[in-house]
Amino acid sequence: MNRECLHSLFPAPYTLIHCTLLMVFFFSLSLSYAVGPSHLDKNKVSTGCATCHKGHGTRGTTLLESPKDNLCFKCHGGAGKAKDVYSVIVKPSNHPIIQTSRYHVTGETLPEREGSVPRHASCYDCHTTHRSEKGNAVKGMKGYTGRGAGIKQISGEYQVCYNCHSDSANLPPEKNIATAFSPSNASYHPIETYGKNSFVPSLKREYTASSIIKCSDCHGNDDPSGAQGPHGSIYVPILRDRYEREAGLESPSTYALCYRCHNRTSILNNESFKTHKEHIVFNQTSCAFCHNAHGSATHRNLLNFDMSLVFPNNKGELSVMASVPGKPRCFLSCHVKGKTFDHMLSGPNMSKMSSSQSLQSRATGSRPLQYCVNNRCVPNW
Ligand code: HEC
Ligand code: HEC
Ligand code: HEC
Ligand code: HEC
Ligand code: HEC
Ligand code: HEC
Ligand code: HEC
Repeated sequence: MNRECLHSLFPAPYTLIHCTLLMVFFFSLSLSYAVGPSHLDKNKVSTGCATCHKGHGTRGTTLLESPKDNLCFKCHGGAGKAKDVYSVIVKPSNHPIIQTSRYHVTGETLPEREGSVPRHASCYDCHTTHRSEKGNAVKGMKGYTGRGAGIKQISGEYQVCYNCHSDSANLPPEKNIATAFSPSNASYHPIETYGKNSFVPSLKREYTASSIIKCSDCHGNDDPSGAQGPHGSIYVPILRDRYEREAGLESPSTYALCYRCHNRTSILNNESFKTHKEHIVFNQTSCAFCHNAHGSATHRNLLNFDMSLVFPNNKGELSVMASVPGKPRCFLSCHVKGKTFDHMLSGPNMSKMSSSQSLQSRATGSRPLQYCVNNRCVPNW
């Protein structure tokens, strides 16, 4: 776009023509969409271009009316404003915009190639001021596939997030979020593409197995009446709802994040996993002990145990056999609220038998092995 033009939004007649053309261009742009760019809409920003740009300044810059973020805060800061983002980015969990936006460089290449560059986030990393519109605040951004390729114009919000949360050299590899959402994983929340599971009975009416969801469906403001978006929240890490990851009493609020889309009644009625209720309600196990909220490379149903609480069982086994839907056999031991739950195949008085004996008894069929937890056995599991 012609930056010269901006340089003289008002003075020289020659560039005024350019400006008129530019405005006609923007005007037609706003006509060609059902929803136009909000900042170029006279009904929303009545004082037009000059609200943000001024006629005099340094060539080659966009001659903004105020230094970068401050410009945004003129309208998106200050209590009482409907789209007050400032009061959100100071919440306990946030994008560190105030602290790090100064490291943003116009035209920078992301993901970051240098490990030593400080990590940053600014309004301009997620929004293109001239393109943002109602229902598509990140429209017009550059993005990243999460697997090697840059994207000139994103087709999904996650591609913006991957600019900084996937292959960035200044991010430890274990924090690469794109890994969990890879379509080649056994399961994942449907961000990049449709999910792999057609049996998700708990889904609320608004969702089906062919829904696509956004990062910002989970990461966002805890206050539904404040400015929406993954700017900040009282819930770490920038979650829209509460999601307890420690063992504790179940309630609609404890796991509100999941219950936003998954019916609590269905989960607690064991419609999918036959002992959901026993685990969640009676043993006070958090969803996070068993599920990874993003995805699982190796297991269906986002199964990915919290390895700080799960250990090999008494036989040294640590694995999951999920061949029968709803009744996976987990061979492991887990610690919840000071109690240990040992999951294994065993028979009566198993504790007195060595594991070679138990294999033998299985072979001869004399003592049928059952699936047991702490020697409490569940027939037909
Ligand atoms: C709400 C504030 C705002 C309004 C209103 C606004 N601009 Fe901008 N404009 C910006 C910002 C901020 C940038 C810097 C680009 C960016 O990062 O979004 C910019 C960049 C530009 C550029 C440089 C090229 C580019 O897109 O990066 C031109 C030219 C421009 N604006 C012209 C206009 C014209 C003409 C209007 C009126 C039709 C206008 N702007 C209205 C904020 C605004
Ligand atoms: C002159 C006031 C003004 C300035 C300055 C301003 N905005 Fe806005 N912005 C608005 C208005 C008005 C809306 C539409 C709000 C509505 O419809 O309720 C809006 C909407 C948005 C939206 C969401 C699109 C939508 O309509 O839902 C984003 C994202 C946004 N602004 C980002 C920015 C960023 C980033 C900056 C700084 C570069 C900025 N704004 C500067 C007034 C402003
Ligand atoms: C990490 C990326 C990111 C950063 C940084 C960011 N935003 Fe946003 N913002 C978003 C996303 C994503 C949405 C849309 C969420 C949705 O679809 O519900 C959004 C929405 C908005 C909205 C619309 C809110 C509403 O209620 O409709 C405004 C206004 C806005 N952002 C302004 C800003 C300003 C100003 C800054 C800098 C202080 C900023 N954003 C920084 C990602 C970001
Ligand atoms: C320009 C870079 C950038 C972009 C783009 C970006 N982020 Fe971030 N994000 C950060 C930085 C920097 C932090 C602070 C922690 C860190 O360094 O990872 C952060 C933190 C977060 C956190 C909190 C993590 C924690 O451990 O507390 C979440 C959640 C998050 N971002 C989600 C998103 C989502 C969702 C998007 C896309 C809408 C997005 N981010 C886009 C830079 C970015
Ligand atoms: C003890 C481990 C464990 C805990 C704790 C747990 N789940 Fe599960 N969940 C499973 C297993 C195992 C399956 C899959 C059963 C199968 O088909 O093999 C499953 C399946 C699911 C499914 C997919 C099918 C459906 O019901 O729609 C959802 C959604 C789900 N769990 C949500 C939750 C939520 C929400 C919580 C916390 C409130 C939770 N789970 C707690 C183990 C657990
Ligand atoms: C279904 C809800 C959900 C979706 C969708 C989702 N997240 Fe998360 N995310 C979570 C939860 C819950 C946590 C905290 C997990 C934990 O600590 O066990 C988390 C953690 C994070 C963290 C911090 C992790 C760390 O290693 O520090 C980042 C960053 C993040 N998510 C980014 C994203 C991005 C980017 C997307 C989209 C590509 C996304 N999330 C989609 C629920 C979600
Ligand atoms: C924004 C809506 C949304 C939220 C919030 C959400 N989910 Fe989901 N979830 C979905 C959708 C849509 C599917 C269906 C994907 C499919 O068919 O594979 C799904 C599928 C699942 C599955 C089955 C995945 C598979 O491929 O086997 C599990 C398990 C699950 N969710 C657990 C959770 C947990 C735990 C939380 C809370 C941390 C949560 N979900 C929050 C929308 C959501």
